[in-house]
Amino acid sequence: MSQRPVVVVTGGSSNIGWACVRRFSTDHRVLIADLQAPQESTGDDVEFFQTDITDAQACAAMMTRASAMGPVVALVHSAAITMPARPVQQISADEWRRVIDVNLTGAFLVAQSAIPALLATRGSLVIISSRAARTGVAALVPTAQGTKPHYCASKAGVLSLVKSLAVELADGGVRVNAVVPGSIEGQMIPRERWPELATHIPLGRLGRPEEIADAAHFLCSPQAHYITGQSIDVNGGTYFQGMYASVEWVDIEMGLVKSLVFGLLIIWIASAKGFFLHLEKSGGFGAEGVSRTTTDAVVLSSVSILVWDYLISAIML
Ligand SMILES: NC(=O)c1ccc[n+]([C@@H]2O[C@H](COP(=O)([O-])OP(=O)(O)OC[C@H]3O[C@@H](n4cnc5c(N)ncnc54)[C@H](O)[C@@H]3O)[C@@H](O)[C@H]2O)c1
Repeated sequence: MSQRPVVVVTGGSSNIGWACVRRFSTDHRVLIADLQAPQESTGDDVEFFQTDITDAQACAAMMTRASAMGPVVALVHSAAITMPARPVQQISADEWRRVIDVNLTGAFLVAQSAIPALLATRGSLVIISSRAARTGVAALVPTAQGTKPHYCASKAGVLSLVKSLAVELADGGVRVNAVVPGSIEGQMIPRERWPELATHIPLGRLGRPEEIADAAHFLCSPQAHYITGQSIDVNGGTYFQGMYASVEWVDIEMGLVKSLVFGLLIIWIASAKGFFLHLEKSGGFGAEGVSRTTTDAVVLSSVSILVWDYLISAIML
């Protein structure tokens, strides 16, 4: 058995947590803390400890077990649940409490239980949040089925918890950060939805669990020693308002073409109108009148181009 430092991964039996287990087990010993054991076999440096993160005593026992393996230098908290999407009026108080209990209170209990061990090693805590925390919509694209407000609120809550912990533990040298995944391959998102969702992601595909694990590993590494209280979005470029972030170049080109055509049209109308007004007033083709007409036309067309560009940007963003 190696003397490598120990990392605890809650929710480590599945998907993102499991990817974290594999990533960290390259240079650490890992304790998986989960309700269920992993389906795949683990190496010598990985142990499983059945844990319900909503139970303070179970969390304490988890840390006792981890500390028995060696110095605990990091904890990645990935365990969480979601619920089927349904309109907010149909969400019962029990369901709301259940999601908050596992996702937010669970994060608090895990963090609280890990503090002594992390203070002892000046270690690092990473909590996995979600893009839903930023947008208030669990799905990448809002649907009539609802936003999963309990899931979103719980994931927003952990972002605030990360900041509070970072402030409180900074003196002890413990860093606390969040990874904020976008849509990630795994059972939380039904596979048949992946291709359609990918069309809304600038990088053109869902994220892979390993990509979240890489971010978590980085945050726990010496390379991140001056990073605390932060949240790193790993989402393929999706905009934080839940909208499609990437603007198609074809849209930009069309916007420019429209601006140009519209501007030229305004110049033409303004020139013609100003020109004839001037003729009416001056009764002739004086040089001053023509120059005045041209200035009016340029000012008017510039303003109209700006207004048009503003409208185009507003529509596209
Ligand atoms: N998959 C995604 O697209 C996605 C996107 C954004 C954020 N996230 C977040 O990433 C994390 C992991 O997601 P995932 O896709 O691996 O989910 P998952 O459902 O595959 O894995 C979650 C794990 O947590 C465990 N768990 C649930 N309740 C528990 C409890 N009370 N005590 C202990 N363990 C418990 C489950 O047994 C499971 O092994 C979650 O925090 C999730 O909210 C996922």
